[in-house]
Amino acid sequence: MRETDQIVLESKNIDKFFYNPTKTQVLKEVSFSINRGEFVSVIGKSGCGKSTLLYILSTMDTDYSGELFMDGEKISGKSSSFLSQLRNEKIGFVFQFHYLLNEFSVLENVMIPGLKLGKYSREELEHRALEKLRIFDMQDHAKKKANQLSGGQKQRVAIARALINDPLLIMGDEPTGNLDKKNSDIVFNKFKELAKEFGQTMLIVTHDPEFAAGTDRTIEMEDGRVIRF
Ligand SMILES: Nc1ncnc2c1ncn2[C@@H]1O[C@H](COP(=O)(O)OP(=O)(O)OP(=O)(O)O)[C@@H](O)[C@H]1O
Ligand SMILES: [Mg+2]
Repeated sequence: MRETDQIVLESKNIDKFFYNPTKTQVLKEVSFSINRGEFVSVIGKSGCGKSTLLYILSTMDTDYSGELFMDGEKISGKSSSFLSQLRNEKIGFVFQFHYLLNEFSVLENVMIPGLKLGKYSREELEHRALEKLRIFDMQDHAKKKANQLSGGQKQRVAIARALINDPLLIMGDEPTGNLDKKNSDIVFNKFKELAKEFGQTMLIVTHDPEFAAGTDRTIEMEDGRVIRF
């Protein structure tokens, strides 16, 4: 395997400006790469640009300069339909708030990104969704509606959902930010297990120094710049 085959995500000199209310540069020459199987955290003070960066890396924000490569392919400048297919196929998302749909069952919620991708039949997806729920010890809750779960359980389901298409990369913006210590630990340990047992590549923004210390590598940001990676 060539060395470049190992790189899952790479950013080169990413600059980002916001123009409202005044022109402000929020990302400055952000360059780094992430290798297959790495569990990477992103830390930095509030307002330093972490969420803005994640939004760009996840291809949802295309208004930046610089270059972005995913899985060896240049993705900056691609069409929105290309990017949305890429996201469905290659990226799993976990946010601070779970964004589960309350009118659907736990199982259906986990299946949704799979239905969107359209690669597997409904039957296969049910099977896959149960498998992912089992990783998080949530298989017995599959038939419940999402609003019948505790906060920690909802977040575990949200992570199971992020895994449904076996993504190349999981990205999280403060996935434990809304959880108590006990549930944070559960989520952290599951991430760790995903990295170790499945070689899952993960890029997780966190405020929690203990969480960051447990990851393979930490990218530190300050005032729109990467100061350590
Ligand atoms: N839509 C926007 N328009 C203008 N400025 C914005 C916008 N979104 C974010 N900003 C500014 O960009 C900077 C970076 O914001 P960002 O949300 O990326 O920070 P963050 O590191 O994720 O902070 P936190 O840890 O509080 O989540 C901040 O100064 C913020 O005020
Ligand atoms: Mg943020």
